[in-house]
Amino acid sequence: MSILNNLFEFAVVLLFLVATVQTQSESPQWICDSTDSCLIDNAANIGDVKRFESQNDCRLSCGKYGAIWPIPTVECSISNERIRFDPWKVRFNVVAPDAASTQYVRESNRIFVSNILKDCVRNCSLPNSKEVLVKTRVSSNSLVLDWGTNETYTLSLRTTDMATFVEVKAQTVYGARHALETLSNLITGSKDNGLLMVRAARVRDAPIYPHRGLLLDTARNYIPLKLISRTLDAMAASKMNVLHWHVVDSQSFPLEITRVPEMQQFGAYRSDMVYSRTDTNNIVRYARLRGIRIIIEIDGPSHAGNGWQWGTLSGLGNMAVCLNQQPWRSYCIQPPCGQLNPFNENMYGIMKEIYEDLAEVNAPEETIHVGGDEVFIPCWNSTAEITRRMTETGFDLSMRSFYKVWSEFHQKNLDSWDNVTQRQYPRITEPKSVIIWSSHLTDPEIIADHLPKERYIVQTWVESDKTLNNDLLLKGYRIIVSTKNAWYLDHGFWGRTSFYNWRTVYDNRMDVHPLVLGGEVCMWSEYVDQSSVESRIWPRAGAAAERLWANPKLSSLLVQARFFRYRDRLLSRGIKADAVIPKWCVLNEGKCL
Ligand SMILES: *[C@@H]1O[C@H](CO)[C@@H](O)[C@H](O)[C@H]1NC(C)=O
Ligand SMILES: *[C@@H]1O[C@H](CO)[C@@H](O)[C@H](O)[C@H]1NC(C)=O
Ligand SMILES: *[C@@H]1O[C@H](CO)[C@@H](O)[C@H](O)[C@H]1NC(C)=O
Ligand SMILES: *[C@@H]1O[C@H](CO)[C@@H](O)[C@H](O)[C@H]1NC(C)=O
Repeated sequence: MSILNNLFEFAVVLLFLVATVQTQSESPQWICDSTDSCLIDNAANIGDVKRFESQNDCRLSCGKYGAIWPIPTVECSISNERIRFDPWKVRFNVVAPDAASTQYVRESNRIFVSNILKDCVRNCSLPNSKEVLVKTRVSSNSLVLDWGTNETYTLSLRTTDMATFVEVKAQTVYGARHALETLSNLITGSKDNGLLMVRAARVRDAPIYPHRGLLLDTARNYIPLKLISRTLDAMAASKMNVLHWHVVDSQSFPLEITRVPEMQQFGAYRSDMVYSRTDTNNIVRYARLRGIRIIIEIDGPSHAGNGWQWGTLSGLGNMAVCLNQQPWRSYCIQPPCGQLNPFNENMYGIMKEIYEDLAEVNAPEETIHVGGDEVFIPCWNSTAEITRRMTETGFDLSMRSFYKVWSEFHQKNLDSWDNVTQRQYPRITEPKSVIIWSSHLTDPEIIADHLPKERYIVQTWVESDKTLNNDLLLKGYRIIVSTKNAWYLDHGFWGRTSFYNWRTVYDNRMDVHPLVLGGEVCMWSEYVDQSSVESRIWPRAGAAAERLWANPKLSSLLVQARFFRYRDRLLSRGIKADAVIPKWCVLNEGKCL
C-alpha cells in the first residue's frame, strides 16, 4: 500500500517536472490586450485570458479587423477561436453562370492555395484533419473590369464537427477573388503542422473607390518582367486594381509595337530590354487573374522622343523635335529632350498604329492614358518647322496659340483612338473616355475649351493644399488623384523632394465625391531599377491601398499593428517589402506610438 502510495507520489512529481520543463521550453504565449495589442503574456495576466501560440496567431482576431488589410467597409466579425487545417485538404466548389467565369474562379482558387502554402513553416500536411470546403457563388458572367465593375463580396466561415465551411458570394469574379484575399488574411502559419485559421468569421465588403492604382514607370529605367509580375502579386494582396503602366517616355521606348517595330528598335535601351507583344499579353492576362487592369500610357506630346527618331530616315519627316538636344535646360525639363511634332501627319498615323496594337492586347472595355503634361513651349517655339507652320496657318506665337496646337494634338489622337476602338469593337457604342495628366490645359479656367469632360478623366498630381481637384469636380470632370506631396514614391531621392513614409501615404485623405474615381501612387523610375524598385514601392503602396479601398477615418497611428502584419505577409509572399520600424516595435505593439 505504502509502496504504491510512494510510487504514485513519485509519478506525480515526475509529471510535474515534465510539465514544468515543457512549459519552460515552449515558446511564449500571446494575448490580445484591452488596447487591441498582441503582446507576450506575462505572469500578471492570469485567469481567463485567451492565449495564442504566436503573435501572428493572436493578430488574426485582435481588434475589430484582425489582420485584414485593407479593412472591410461594411461588416466584419472574427472569432478568436482557431482551427488547424491542412492546405492540401481545402476543397472548392464553384457556382458561376458560365464556363469562363467558372474557370476564372478556379484560377483564383489555385492562386489562393499557392499563397497560403507560403505560410507553411513546417510540413503542412495534417493527416486526419477535417476538410475546409470553400463554396463560391458568382451571379454575373461578366468579366468586364472597369470603373463600373461590382467588386462587392461577402465571406462567411463556420466550423462544425464535420468540416469548416467557407461561403463566398459576389456578383462578379473580381469580388470573389477579393474574398479569397480576405480569407488568406484569416490564416497564418503555425509552429506545428498545418495552418491556423479563425474558426468563424463574417465579412461584407466593397471598395469606396473603383480606381485603386499604382503607376509603374518602365521607361526611365527598364523594369524586368519578373518584377512586374511580383508587383502585380503585391497589388493583388492589397486589393489594388489598376496598374498604370507608364511604359514609354523620352528616355526609352521599350514596348514592342508589332505594326511599327521601329519604335522599340530605335527606342529600347538594349534589344533585351524590351516588352514583346507576348510579354504584354502575359502581363495583361496575369493582372486580370488578380483583379487588376493594365492601363497603358503613351505619353505625348511631351515626354516622347527616343523611339520616334527614325522618321527622317524613312521619309516620314521629323516626328519628334528637340530630340536629345543640348543644353537640355533650354529645351525640356529633364534630359533627354524630345517632344512630338504636332504638324507632322505621319506622326499621327504612327500613333494610330500604336493604338491599334494597344486595343488588341487589352480587354475590349479597356482605355488608354494619353499622358499630356509638361509640354515645354520653348522647344516648339525654337523649332523652325513648327513656328513656320504656325504662322502659315494663321497662328501667332503666343502662349494661347501653343495651347491650341497642343490641344489639337490631343483631339486628333482621340479621333484615332475612337476610330480604332469602333473598328475593333463595333459592339461598344459609347466612345471610351481616356485619362490625361493635369497640366496648363487642365487649368479650370480653360479646360472646357480643350478637353471635353465626357471624354477626358483628369489625373491630378498637385500638392494636397491646391484647389485643383475641387475646381475640376465643380466643372463636372472625373478625376484620379495622385497627390504629389504624399503619393509620389520617387520623392526623397532627388532635388529638394522629401521622402513620404507609409504614414504620410496613409494619412492622405481623399475627397468623397462621385466624380472622384480614386487615386494612384506613382513609382517614377529615374532613381529605381530592378535592384530597388520593390522595396521603394512596398509596403508604402499598401498604405494607399487601404486609403482607396476604405478611406478610413482612422489615422495611421491606430493601424500600425495591422500594417506591420500586412508587411510581413508581403514578405512571406516573396515581396521584398521595406522595413518600416525596428522589430522591437513590431513585437511590442503599441509601445512605439
Ligand atoms: C509530411 O507529413 C506527412 C504526414 O505526417 C507525411 O506523410 C509526409 O511524408 C511528410 N512530408 C515531408 C516532406 O516530410
Ligand atoms: C453589387 O453586388 C451586390 C451583390 O453581390 C449587390 O448587393 C449590390 O447592390 C451591387 N452593387 C451595385 C452598385 O450594383
Ligand atoms: C516664341 O518666340 C517668339 C520669337 O522668339 C517670341 O516673340 C514669343 O514670345 C515666343 N512665344 C512664347 C509663348 O514664348
Ligand atoms: C476616323 O474615321 C472617320 C470616318 O471613317 C474619318 O473621316 C477620319 O479621317 C478618321 N480619323 C482618323 C484620325 O483616322
